[in-house]
Amino acid sequence: MVTTKEPERMKLKQDRLKSLSKRKFRAGDKPICAITAYDYPTARVLDEVGVDIILVGDSLGMVVLGFPDTTHVTLEHMCHHTEAVARGAKDTLILGDLPINTYDTPEQALATAKVLVNAGADAVKLEGGIIQEEKIRKIIEAGIPVIGHLGMLPQSVLEEGGYKKKGKTQEQANRLIDSARCLEQVGCTAIILESVIPKVAQDITNAISIPTIGIGCGRTSCDGEVAVITDVIGSYPWFVPPFATPRASVADDIKRAVTEYKEAIGKEV
Ligand code: KIV
Repeated sequence: MVTTKEPERMKLKQDRLKSLSKRKFRAGDKPICAITAYDYPTARVLDEVGVDIILVGDSLGMVVLGFPDTTHVTLEHMCHHTEAVARGAKDTLILGDLPINTYDTPEQALATAKVLVNAGADAVKLEGGIIQEEKIRKIIEAGIPVIGHLGMLPQSVLEEGGYKKKGKTQEQANRLIDSARCLEQVGCTAIILESVIPKVAQDITNAISIPTIGIGCGRTSCDGEVAVITDVIGSYPWFVPPFATPRASVADDIKRAVTEYKEAIGKEV
């Protein structure tokens, strides 16, 4: 299904993306609030709450589809979930992840970005810095906004042999800052920083004029935060990253409710 967007809504989203690109926390704006969603009801609730960005992240591979990491996620998976989110979130900016192996060349990156936009994404995200410059340029030149992703890159988990904090050495820190500047220059709307040590995340935030949106980078070093919804609502208790703060226990609530339901079957009310 291709989500139809009325011209006014498209204009609203374009205006929001433009103002998002200027949302530096230091300038006194509110910090950016981004959170993932993968389905219609969650997206609808987030739309009602009012968040800045709903990310249809490829984290869906783990927290929804049960894969060990994001390297199993396909474009079909992403489209299926982006369409559901777009049906639920009419007003919120929807950011879609380009899954692994779907942006190996600039041409492929643009083709994949177009597919995600047709599924309902307002902007796309891809992992990596300077080496992705031409791919990002190609997408942006076609009129599709891009949000970058630097630091720990989950799609590289197999090559890296695990999820490792970034920015610990001066060389890594310099590379991150150079990449952030490159993504800014090529025209990214914002940059997601994942698992970068707070000091370096702060240095990156200070070095560029577009906002940084952090996850696992400390609470105050970026211009906003992004969280995986299951970490916030406690619906995936089998793995909770150390930096996450669960604010509900949805898995426990489901267990309690289903146990009550099971026990009530066959009994008079
Ligand atoms: O896929 C995802 O949820 C992400 C966030 C961790 C930033 O990319």
